[in-house]
Amino acid sequence: MKNLILEGFMGCGKSRIAKALGDDTGMKVIDTDELIEKEQKRAISGIFASDGEEAFRDMETALLRKLQNDTKNCIISLGGGMPVREENRRILKDLGTVVYLKADREVLIGRLERGVEKRPMLSGHDLEKRVEELLAARQDLYADAADIIIDIGEDDPDTISLRIRKELGL
Ligand code: S3P
Repeated sequence: MKNLILEGFMGCGKSRIAKALGDDTGMKVIDTDELIEKEQKRAISGIFASDGEEAFRDMETALLRKLQNDTKNCIISLGGGMPVREENRRILKDLGTVVYLKADREVLIGRLERGVEKRPMLSGHDLEKRVEELLAARQDLYADAADIIIDIGEDDPDTISLRIRKELGL
């Protein structure tokens, strides 16, 4: 069984949907943000504050290369910026089936209003403008990396898990 990879903008529910998929399929769930925090022994906001965004992006690429070598049969939830680097998109194609969890701007903004301080790409910015700007820059890249696109609408994680499994015949 190939890995099942979840990508999408911050706030689209990747972690919760990964958990629902894990419960429904029995596959192990891994989360790239959690793995980086564990390895670095610090929060992502701390990594951005002391080392900067590029250093974090290098950690993401290094982690993807490692997963490409040693990970099978897992559900992998990606940090929202992972597909931005071309090299990462190339690795993702080899790593497994990529599901883009596509969400409307309004849904994302509503969900992101809480917890901005944990998200260094958003903190210190006007939330609406920043989400629009990042979405505009990323939407095509998410689609380019994806094998399937799921419009999440207002569905809950269990429903989305079911929709993904149906679409992929799992
Ligand atoms: C980021 C998304 C975050 C985390 C980091 C950068 C981004 O993950 O990787 O703060 O650039 O979109 P979530 O999508 O899980 O919030």
